[in-house]
Amino acid sequence: MHKNKLINLIAILMGIFLFGACEYATIQPDSPPPPPPPGDSTSFSLKVQPFFNTSCAGCHNGSVAPDLRSGKSYQSLFDNNMVVALSPETSILYTCLLSGGSMVNYGNATDNAIVYNWIKEGAKNN
Ligand code: HEC
Repeated sequence: MHKNKLINLIAILMGIFLFGACEYATIQPDSPPPPPPPGDSTSFSLKVQPFFNTSCAGCHNGSVAPDLRSGKSYQSLFDNNMVVALSPETSILYTCLLSGGSMVNYGNATDNAIVYNWIKEGAKNN
């Protein structure tokens, strides 16, 4: 009798633990942002870098990887394997901005869409 209660208790605790672990690991599957308007190709220098300058380079100033300062960011993102060209869903630079990601506080829907579309279009140094 006593032993059964103990086993039940352990089972319940394991259940809570496993449930909690799953909850923690879940990254919300945000639906992909809309594509940019035709002709409005997402340029790294005109769209992505200004976002880094405003929202990221204060911290990512060479002391924390990736280095997101102008002139350094493109090389640093690829050196650190944080961008997979054509595949935003598997690029840390994009996934870290989504809910559940470590940098979620520093982007917004507009900025995140710029990053998404830039990667989707081949992550060119344009
Ligand atoms: C307040 C400081 C701060 C700001 C602002 C900031 N970051 Fe970070 N970022 C960090 C620190 C510290 C780390 C390393 C530790 C960590 O992963 O939390 C990091 C890590 C990262 C990583 C690597 C994540 C990983 O899982 O390896 C990426 C990519 C990144 N930041 C991108 C960005 C982008 C893009 C922005 C702007 C939208 C941004 N960060 C804004 C402090 C910051």
